Amino acid sequence: MPFYKKLGNIPRKRHTAFRKEDESLYREQVMGTKGFSGIQSILYHHDAPTEIVKSELFADCHLEYEEQKDLCHRHFQTDFESNLGDAVSGRQFILGNDDLLIGVAKTTKSMDYYYRNSDGDELLFVHYGTGKIESMFGTITYEPGDYIVIPVGTIYRVVPNNEETKLLVIETISWITTPKRYRNEHGQLLEHSPFCERDIFGPEKLETFSEKGSFEVRTKSRGFLHSHFLSHHPMNVEGWDGYLYPWKINIRDFEPITGRIHMPPPIHQMFEGHNFVICSFVPRLYDYHPDAIPAPYYHSNVDSDEVLYYVEGNFMSRKGINEGSITLHPSGIPHGPHPGTIEASIGKKETLELAVMIDTFKPLKVVKQTNISEDFNYKYSWAPK
Ligand SMILES: [Fe+2]
Repeated sequence: MPFYKKLGNIPRKRHTAFRKEDESLYREQVMGTKGFSGIQSILYHHDAPTEIVKSELFADCHLEYEEQKDLCHRHFQTDFESNLGDAVSGRQFILGNDDLLIGVAKTTKSMDYYYRNSDGDELLFVHYGTGKIESMFGTITYEPGDYIVIPVGTIYRVVPNNEETKLLVIETISWITTPKRYRNEHGQLLEHSPFCERDIFGPEKLETFSEKGSFEVRTKSRGFLHSHFLSHHPMNVEGWDGYLYPWKINIRDFEPITGRIHMPPPIHQMFEGHNFVICSFVPRLYDYHPDAIPAPYYHSNVDSDEVLYYVEGNFMSRKGINEGSITLHPSGIPHGPHPGTIEASIGKKETLELAVMIDTFKPLKVVKQTNISEDFNYKYSWAPK
């Protein structure tokens, strides 16, 4: 998405004969979004991407949501056991609506199949762990703090190094991109953007596997997981170019926007999609007006739900929150700093907090599941003691 990129070998002109050493043709595939009016890439495969030798329904992915409860603030813990699956099958979804799903995966396991989400873009935020994502566009290595955007239809698998990887996972039915207000009419990031193209990295190298065999690609589509077996390796791309490819940016490369008095939440925004935004709260100097209150004011998400995933550091406006906590502050009722945190923030010079925030413009529902525990007293944590 961010800019034009090319990896591997491609012909001088698009849509012309591109031959292998044995004179047979590479198979050209155009992956285009928005009916070929959006961004796209052109890939050259050793074998046709349509060569499927077995196709079957693999699983029903529809989630069961809990019954409607009282409208209140919620706090979930994600300290569940590791290896409930790999980076895809082990996803524990916590919140969702018709626009996106929010979950967590903790795993040491490499995927022994390939996967693509055909419904929309995915965003993986690496809380901890290192490893690589092998995709048809090439390999992206990851480390803590990386956001990895994987475009719709991209075949990939996650291979952790010899340690546990914990991912915050956002699956969408739309696109994920940088905020439009930070880009000029050509797509270039502007001077007031808190990050620029130098902070964004596409696949580092393209590895091409041309062997034949039986290779499983699981495709998520329309609420179901489908298993397709190809007669060739799915990572058989000789070369590609275009604007559509997986990319990463590290949360620590987000340069915070600060001011004399409290700056509004949109200054933390890093991504946007259909009916949601994603923000990064990073270590930063506090407001520098002599009487400034660095903690946020109480506020009402009049028309959006707010989800926070706490990564590390002491979140300045919260108490009783741990690393890996997820809070949901729904629209309809106000939220804000915990008692005492406003006073405690006055005169402080900086915060070391690191957190990811997802604001959704449609209400979120809580997924009914057993691996996530909840702090049921959170809704009363603002009450006088
Ligand atoms: Fe808020």
